[in-house]
Amino acid sequence: MAKLKTRYVCQECATEYPRWQGRCENCDAWNSVVEELPATTHMGSKVSGGKPAELIALQGTTVDNPRLNTHSAEFDRVLGGGLVAGSAILIGGDPGIGKSTLLLQTAAHLSQKTPVLYFSGEESASQIQLRAKRLGLENADVHIATTGHLETILATMAKNKTGFMVIDSIQTVFSDKTESAPGTVSQVRLAANEIIGAAKKAGVCVVFVGHVTKDGQIAGPRVLEHMVDTVMYFEGDRGQPFRILRTFKNRFGATNEIGVFDMCDRGLQDISNPSALFLEERTTDAAGSAVLTAIEGTRPMLMEVQALVSATNQAQPRRTTLGVDGGRLSMLAAVLDKHAGFTFSSHDIFLNIAGGLRVTEPAADLAMASAMVSSLLNRPIPSDRVIMGELGLTGEVRSVGQMDVRLKEAQKLGFKVAITPTLPTKVKVDGLEIIQIKRLDHLVEHLFN
Ligand code: TYD
Ligand code: MG
Repeated sequence: MAKLKTRYVCQECATEYPRWQGRCENCDAWNSVVEELPATTHMGSKVSGGKPAELIALQGTTVDNPRLNTHSAEFDRVLGGGLVAGSAILIGGDPGIGKSTLLLQTAAHLSQKTPVLYFSGEESASQIQLRAKRLGLENADVHIATTGHLETILATMAKNKTGFMVIDSIQTVFSDKTESAPGTVSQVRLAANEIIGAAKKAGVCVVFVGHVTKDGQIAGPRVLEHMVDTVMYFEGDRGQPFRILRTFKNRFGATNEIGVFDMCDRGLQDISNPSALFLEERTTDAAGSAVLTAIEGTRPMLMEVQALVSATNQAQPRRTTLGVDGGRLSMLAAVLDKHAGFTFSSHDIFLNIAGGLRVTEPAADLAMASAMVSSLLNRPIPSDRVIMGELGLTGEVRSVGQMDVRLKEAQKLGFKVAITPTLPTKVKVDGLEIIQIKRLDHLVEHLFN
């Protein structure tokens, strides 16, 4: 019989090594390699034959997953139309961002329709009760268990009929079956596997809270993301009240969908019209501000780009960004210099998306360039103007997707003029004047008048 080998596994990225080492060669983490005992003991023994699987005809599957609404239209939207019975969801996010709050609110509302269990390995029952009180939900029929012991969780699930349950967090769950510490790869994998298995069998919808590492990944093995049906991240700047819940994987809906919330003193509230809110505090006659319609998931959202261009006293001018990619800013500065004659080499540039938001799509190029030019010239862009398009390195303005959706959203919020790339003739929006530009140098002609 082959000798069983102990494995050494990096807890950050799950890379395996034959012996212990201080630093993981794959992800460069220090002290992350931990000894794990082999889980299987039948290695090398005779493999027993399997039974043939029961085959199911594709055309015969008429299972329509019934959805359970969560009482939050935003959460439902991110889920793809509500919770699916028997599905497993993983929610990641920075500490203090509001994961436990969202799930306690959801649990409380769902408890009117289905039995709810809330397992917390992080907080005491009185802490959770206190939060419920603060949220005005202290009379909800939610049952709390403050344990992280896997076998206890499974036994509790078996004893109590449940429709929805929360595990806050998966990193605190541990099993007697393995010696490793809670939060290690083998514990997390084992716990998630057993809980998902039990939940699927009983048709329970389970939500796991996952901690994130310094660089924003869900801690523990990546396999966790493969095991669940839906992975979402809770984002936001803790100094700001806005919170965005974003899906990265969804077996029951669209990915990259977002839900927008406001963290107020009575918990998380839906924001059904984020565009209006993000533009609320805009000052209309300030230089360095430009508005675009970004697309987040399937949803158009107006955002304000702010630029501050000021003369520098340093040899190396500063380029600072919040909510946009720093490389993109450098590229835009170079393109503006080369193709429109605006030189930023003796200026610091600060670029920010108002409200703690972020944009990654190239459609924001033209608005960012406009904000920079407006600040450099100290001339405000008229406040009824919305600007979008991608900028190429040769100074050409390139088209971006879903222009009709973007323009309609802008018109709905009272914008009168749109500066855009060349559009197909069929794109028309009543009450919105559309200025189509082909090259960057045309932008400045239309920006201020
Ligand atoms: P929490 O849900 O505990 O975060 P997580 O589980 O992601 O770590 O949220 C804690 C933060 O939310 C805390 O800083 C206080 C704030 N908060 C409010 O602003 N309003 C509220 O009603 C509640 C319950 C929390
Ligand atoms: Mg929490």
